[in-house]
Amino acid sequence: MLSLPQRDTICINHLVLTVPLLSGAVWPKALGKATLQPVLISLSIPHGISSTASSDDLSHSINYSLLCSSLRDSLNDKIAPLETLEALSARIFDILLLRSSTDAPLVSEAHLKITQTRAPLNCKAVGVESRATSLPGNSWAADYVKHFCENLECSTIIGINPCEREERQIVRVNVSIERSESGVQRHNWVDFRSLARTLHEKIGKSSYQTLEALASYIAEETLNYLWNANPDPFLRTPFVSVGAAKPSAIVFASSSEIQIRRTYSDYPASFTRQLQSEPTHADRVTRTVALALGSNLGDRFFNIELALRLLEAPPVVLGISEDTVHVVDTSFMYESTPMYVTDQPSFINCACVIETNLMPLELLKLLKAIEITVGRVPSVRNGPRAVDLDIIFYAGAVIDTRESLQTELDDLEGELVVPHPRLAEREFVLKPLNDMIPDFIHPVLHQSVSALLAAVETPAKTGSMYKVIPFPQCPLPTNYVFPHTSVDVVPPTLTHWIYPSVHQPAHASRTAPWAPRETRVMATLNATPDSFSDGATHNTLPKALEYAQSAVAAGAGILDVGGYSTRPGAAFITPEEEISRVEPTIAAIHAAHPQLSISIDTFRPDVARAAISAGANCINDVYAFTGRGSYPFEETGDAAGGALKCMSAMKKVAREFAVPVVLMHSRGDAGSNKDYNAYGYAGPGETVSEGVRIELGRKVDLIVKGRGGVRRWLVIVDPGVGFSKTLGGNLEVLRDAAAITADVSVGSSKTQRNPLAGYPQLIGASRKSFLGVILEQGTGRKTEPKERGWATAAAVACAVQQGALVVRVHDLHEMIDVVHIANALW
Ligand SMILES: *[C@@H]1O[C@H](CO)[C@@H](O)[C@H](O)[C@H]1NC(C)=O
Ligand SMILES: *[C@@H]1O[C@H](CO)[C@@H](O)[C@H](O)[C@H]1NC(C)=O
Repeated sequence: MLSLPQRDTICINHLVLTVPLLSGAVWPKALGKATLQPVLISLSIPHGISSTASSDDLSHSINYSLLCSSLRDSLNDKIAPLETLEALSARIFDILLLRSSTDAPLVSEAHLKITQTRAPLNCKAVGVESRATSLPGNSWAADYVKHFCENLECSTIIGINPCEREERQIVRVNVSIERSESGVQRHNWVDFRSLARTLHEKIGKSSYQTLEALASYIAEETLNYLWNANPDPFLRTPFVSVGAAKPSAIVFASSSEIQIRRTYSDYPASFTRQLQSEPTHADRVTRTVALALGSNLGDRFFNIELALRLLEAPPVVLGISEDTVHVVDTSFMYESTPMYVTDQPSFINCACVIETNLMPLELLKLLKAIEITVGRVPSVRNGPRAVDLDIIFYAGAVIDTRESLQTELDDLEGELVVPHPRLAEREFVLKPLNDMIPDFIHPVLHQSVSALLAAVETPAKTGSMYKVIPFPQCPLPTNYVFPHTSVDVVPPTLTHWIYPSVHQPAHASRTAPWAPRETRVMATLNATPDSFSDGATHNTLPKALEYAQSAVAAGAGILDVGGYSTRPGAAFITPEEEISRVEPTIAAIHAAHPQLSISIDTFRPDVARAAISAGANCINDVYAFTGRGSYPFEETGDAAGGALKCMSAMKKVAREFAVPVVLMHSRGDAGSNKDYNAYGYAGPGETVSEGVRIELGRKVDLIVKGRGGVRRWLVIVDPGVGFSKTLGGNLEVLRDAAAITADVSVGSSKTQRNPLAGYPQLIGASRKSFLGVILEQGTGRKTEPKERGWATAAAVACAVQQGALVVRVHDLHEMIDVVHIANALW
């Protein structure tokens, strides 16, 4: 019956149930009145039978009789009427896959076929086939749905032979419809009765010579029917399979037969027209679309940021007044050597997910207009371009507007082929997509993005692609010309950092030519009178300048300026006071060292804004945008109000200036909340790391995803060594820092992808008190923060070995030496 995987399977075939159905196939249709109808249920359940086979004891297996009786008990003629066969499928999956029905055997996956035999006139059976798997949290999801209509019998003129065309003959037709989008919907998607009647009528009037032409016509008519019946055809591009047989064609065989499978893009003449037609208001449905962005000309980071901002301001380009595009997720940013033409600058590639109510060709028009606005110079194919925008996926749609399939795929001027036809061979598109939508199923290739990526990823090519973080120039240079009035000014780029696109274990060979793995140093400058480590050393302007000068000379990658100590028990200061400490310091340093990147260590939006206006180009926030004392972090309720308000204000600042942000894991006060027992499932030596992945991951998701999010490529995460962690917890996080951002599963059921997967890390262990505790335990000697330089050196070496992007240190000159040696080692 169903297509089965290569495993043991338990099947139940044609179990008869009689249920009240509201819709479906009865004749005459009793409007709104349920009719009792027999349905045949066929089930197949993957289930290892080896233990039952070897012991010959059914207690290891699924009890068939129990299974059938629980279905019969729950679904009988007394139940509330069911809307559709889909609703019945959903009920059966509830019974099989949810844990509430205690007496039913435990099943984690089921394939189900429901056949209705009192089918529409002229056809023998209609039904729905689907497959669902159980999910954590006592739910399930269907990943495959097929509707079918079997043995539709029509009489028509068909044949090449003139005498064959004198009389009508019988053709038998099977039509099945698969949706590329998953999920069993509880409402009616296909009205078999009206579809069967439509097809019967049309086939009766046709007079093709070949069965091939007839089958293709039936497929097209079915697609046409679906297109018209469905308010949003893009959301679920269907695949229609048609089997047609001419039982009386051949004397010595029972029939001649043909099987075909078609979708909208197979009939460009019929459906392209509809793709192009002016959408009516009702057609304006918001859909999720994946776009790829690339640039290899000029200020590449500026070009991409400008393109994204223009994308969200479409009225300028298209004259559409409603807001129509929202960027809701972004990937990491990658730099790679050009794939086809090699004597040009390297490419910056990234991707984003947008929500839009533009139709595919409108969106294409918008993207082309943006390419021109940003300054695309028409040039050699695959040659330099300021920005290149491509539609990769448009919901689950399969679209091809080419008149002839011969049109070259590389030269699609004005034409649209979605999913992008070159996707499967392009690592530089798949990688960014995999950052956002690894599980999305390609509607044509039927493979997930992560599987497609795995198929093209090669170590050599991976070595030639690395991730990038651009740092903007803040404040804007004087005389800076920004001609686009519809969007916030995009700052030009000051510098960018690169780091490996996949985490390389420390022992891996570093011989790949393009595998830069270099930990950078963040020097700290406290414009506070009470910082725990160097209180009052640098809080006068001349001293601050002197320190900045030495940081530049030593080769520090960035200078972190803070005006409000996070030391436990530090005195409260007002935002105004904080600004008055950092603003003049940053302005003076920026004036003296315009090429130096400066981060502002603050959790206050106003301070961040003032600091950036003075010359900072990065935000370092120990509360990850949720404000002070946000533990436990809530997303709803009163407590959430303050944290979310702070988050949205910080996001706004970060977005406006396009600055990188360092988001640290903390739980309110640094000294408290050290209990990670809630993550006990993660196993010893992993609980704190798991806590960081989940707690910081929730905040990072809220900051990156959704409307108004910070670009993923601008986020650096900090596991918060020394913040709300025990001595053991700090060591765990430091020793295994790479695990915090590894592409692993998290959560008690291990079904969620690590929300921090792939992010670069800042690690700040310098002079922290846990180092003092270890020294005291080992030597009996109490240490002041200043005396923990050697201890810090060991921690810094470990951070480098773990692949940290940047380490935050106080003993600048010494730690730069440590980092140089550690970089050379690992
Ligand atoms: C299967 O279930 C039926 C009905 O509950 C029960 O009578 C029978 O003993 C069960 N068989 C096994 C092997 O557990
Ligand atoms: C239609 O489906 C039925 C049941 O699966 C099968 O027996 C028959 O051969 C099919 N006919 C065609 C023309 O595909």
